[in-house]
Amino acid sequence: MNLKDYIASIPDYPKEGIVFRDISPLMADGDAYREATKQIVNYAKEKQIDMVVGPEARGFIVGCPVAFELGLGFAPVRKPGKLPREVIEVEYEKEYGTDTLTIHSDAINPGQRVLITDDLLATGGTIKATIELVEQLGGIVVGCAFLIELEELHGRDKIQGYDILTLMDY
Ligand code: PRP
Ligand code: ADE
Repeated sequence: MNLKDYIASIPDYPKEGIVFRDISPLMADGDAYREATKQIVNYAKEKQIDMVVGPEARGFIVGCPVAFELGLGFAPVRKPGKLPREVIEVEYEKEYGTDTLTIHSDAINPGQRVLITDDLLATGGTIKATIELVEQLGGIVVGCAFLIELEELHGRDKIQGYDILTLMDY
């Protein structure tokens, strides 16, 4: 199965010059969704992880079935004002300006081995901020798994030294 057959490419969305890589056809196909999940689960099994962490919203779609399959927990990373208990936060750079991501302060125990999941690695700002949140709580980021990498944006340069799995490159 070629997973790329299940990615829709939409030119000029959400603005001119951007080709949006839409994972919803992959999610809509049970076999493709399971295959992508299986590939990340196999990667995670080599790393003996304790916890899966993913940023909203599409990091949940990738990470939750992986955590379920491994019998592990999943901790959500969210935009400000969405998590109801005590949080820590990190500001990060977007293409234009800055944004903030948060995680519950008790989401990870110090020393836990964490896999971070997201649908797509673009500039790397989101993954870098998520790594910072996990590490502030004492977690050890042992891998970062994405369905898609947009190579021309060089996101992996921002997270040098971390182990990265990507299932599809554009
Ligand atoms: C998208 C995508 C990644 C991030 C990648 O999320 O799902 O999380 O951008 O971009 P980066 O590598 O340049 O940080 P978005 O912020 O659009 O949020 P959403 O998943 O809630 O739509
Ligand atoms: N997030 C950042 N860039 C994206 C793109 N080109 N397609 C889908 N999600 C994205």
